[in-house]
Amino acid sequence: MAVEVRIRIEHASPVEFATPLLVLQHFERDVRPGGLAAEVDERLGGAITRLLARGDFHGKKDETALLYPQEGQIGAERVLLVGVGKREDYVVERLRRAVGTAVRAAEKIGVSHLALSTGHVDRLSEHMGAYYAGRAAIEAAVLAAWDFTELKTQENDPLAHVQVEEVVLLAADEAEAEEFGRAGRIGQIAARAENLARELQTLPGNIATPSYLAKVAGEIGAAHGMTVTVLDRADMEREGMKALLAVAQGSLQEPRFIAMEYHGGATGEAPLVLVGKGITFDSGGISIKPAEHMEDMKFDMSGGAGVIAAMRAIAELGLKANVVGLVPTTENLPSGTAVKPGDVIGSLLGKTIEVVNTDAEGRLILADALTYAQRYHPKAIIDAATLTGACVIALGHQAIGLMGNDGELIDEVRAAGQRVGERCWPLPLWDEYREQIDSEIADLKNSGGRPAGTITAGWFLKEFTGEVPWAHLDIAGMAYRSEALPYLRSGATGVPTRLFIEWVRSRAG
Ligand code: BES
Ligand code: MN
Ligand code: ZN
Repeated sequence: MAVEVRIRIEHASPVEFATPLLVLQHFERDVRPGGLAAEVDERLGGAITRLLARGDFHGKKDETALLYPQEGQIGAERVLLVGVGKREDYVVERLRRAVGTAVRAAEKIGVSHLALSTGHVDRLSEHMGAYYAGRAAIEAAVLAAWDFTELKTQENDPLAHVQVEEVVLLAADEAEAEEFGRAGRIGQIAARAENLARELQTLPGNIATPSYLAKVAGEIGAAHGMTVTVLDRADMEREGMKALLAVAQGSLQEPRFIAMEYHGGATGEAPLVLVGKGITFDSGGISIKPAEHMEDMKFDMSGGAGVIAAMRAIAELGLKANVVGLVPTTENLPSGTAVKPGDVIGSLLGKTIEVVNTDAEGRLILADALTYAQRYHPKAIIDAATLTGACVIALGHQAIGLMGNDGELIDEVRAAGQRVGERCWPLPLWDEYREQIDSEIADLKNSGGRPAGTITAGWFLKEFTGEVPWAHLDIAGMAYRSEALPYLRSGATGVPTRLFIEWVRSRAG
């Protein structure tokens, strides 16, 4: 297990605070450091101003410069300037990037402790108060420090890399310290949960099997007083989860249906339900995928990982709501027993499905999970799934595709995502799209072809949601990334763990 970074909030002056590395943000084009950084500059005899005047550092996004104060000038041994781009472009995401950049710079120079002053910057921004600035900074620090080294027995890098152990957030005054404190609790819990999701995502298909996910869910449930029910193949047969079983029938690996029930609200109060796709490896089945990048399909359980991780955070935060997390989980493999293109299968709801493409398996397992969710008579359901390649084409790696049957819920989810930096963009589920999944011989077919592939997948799910307000997150472009962000290494991102937590928090009041 990776060591988690420690976060501390201090009401202290960046001039006096003793730290191996003091981090200050700087706006592009500012010829002098602003706010509290001006005081640091003064004590350094104008070293920052000189650096800017020489044109060695411009404050461009993610740019850095390192200064070495003389003995006794300030409390810090080193000062790291981090560029945050132009003042008018400063949004919370810039702060996340700056924190990530600082963590990477610290790793590079071999410093494990750093202190960050945000006060002078966020007060200039209309986009964020101290609370969300604090949360963004704290979450970015916890996410940036995370690494996955569990499966390496040898260090590739001869200069064994230093891990950042502590990040101190310097508050400018008491009020800010209080806001940072509030932000610190939720920020740490949420980002650590996101790191758990990243770990589950990163573990390969031969380790993170359906039963492994069920084991992790069971341990979390036991530690936090949840009721966790795990169905195996025989249980699913008894239940009639025919769509989930159809996907699982090609694999020797045992499928699982995981239900985690957290009782934080009043007894009898209708729960919120989170559903996550848990395909631990998606080969495509008989409609097999090309070999290139097929290994990335170990990430096809990202929605499920997000649900399991968010459930842990929701319990740790003691949110006052009843919340159920559902994860249908199986492999999707080709074999002599696998479901074939053209097969017609049943489902827990009873609708018949023509499987025209065995690679459209996510919607099949989610269909049964969405039907199962109805048993709880929930207030609302949100599902998350790496569901369609089409979503990556539509939105790239910048937004989650958001669909649903309830405008208010969609707005809520979108706002929650915006607050935590997991942005969603809506796509329409107009009636006209429904025809694409009409089947000649069954109630519907599991693929609507290439046009609007994300929307027709959403429409397929909608057929199984009943009257309950429901939102669907297509996270195919967001669950993992080949290029790193300053605060996220390449690979698993943990999306949408923080969105889930933030949405439940907003509902729990
Ligand atoms: N897991 C994939 C979707 C996916 C693709 C996620 C790329 C992340 C990156 C899903 O099961 C799938 O294969 N979908 C098909 C649907 C099609 C057959 C209708 C797709 O997108 O090609
Ligand atoms: Mn697939
Ligand atoms: Zn899939």
